[in-house]
Amino acid sequence: MNDTLKVITERYSCRDFRDEMPSDEILQAIADAGIKAPSSMNRQPWRVIVVKDSELIKDIEEETFARISEMEDKTLYNRIVERGGKVFYTAPCMVVIPVFPDERCLSLIDCGIVCQNITLAATSLGVNSVICGLARLAFLDDCKAEEFSKRLRFPEGYVFGISVLLGYANTSKAPHEPDKDKIIFIE
Ligand SMILES: Cc1cc2nc3c(=O)[nH]c(=O)nc-3n(C[C@H](O)[C@H](O)[C@H](O)COP(=O)(O)O)c2cc1C
Repeated sequence: MNDTLKVITERYSCRDFRDEMPSDEILQAIADAGIKAPSSMNRQPWRVIVVKDSELIKDIEEETFARISEMEDKTLYNRIVERGGKVFYTAPCMVVIPVFPDERCLSLIDCGIVCQNITLAATSLGVNSVICGLARLAFLDDCKAEEFSKRLRFPEGYVFGISVLLGYANTSKAPHEPDKDKIIFIE
């Protein structure tokens, strides 16, 4: 197995981070990998915002949790309460990827690829990660969306696309078992 396939195989979603920030050099390398992603017509309709500000991360997490606590279906809420109310798993760093929306949702695909480049680059550098779509909930309320978009310095017209939490694992887990039945060859 070559190095790329090894990294793809080893990546897993970390949900227990220790209190250690990756160095700026490492975070820069991860962000650089993000912006090397392909995009439809090379439009690059994204920003890669590396958030090390723990106050800002906490505020986004609290708003996300508040929205989860209002959900009628309590499954997610109960799961999060069981693990101490942590939605962001005490990750020291959060990469937020806002996108400029388009009618055909291509920018969301573009942003997903950025996100995967980030998780794989992180894995290759010994940094753990988990993609965090739930953070989108912090942007549902117009007022909060405006506040966080401003604090995160989203350019005009950009909206939350996806986020990735980064740090070092406190406890690790195995990658998910790939389901080989999902692969189809047509000859
Ligand atoms: C678009 C997207 C959004 C996700 N959002 C969350 C999230 O908000 N919280 C979380 O704990 N994991 C999230 N995940 C991680 C998935 O739960 C995880 O990838 C899946 O369970 C497979 O496990 P693995 O990543 O360890 O292989 C997200 C993954 C994707 C692709």
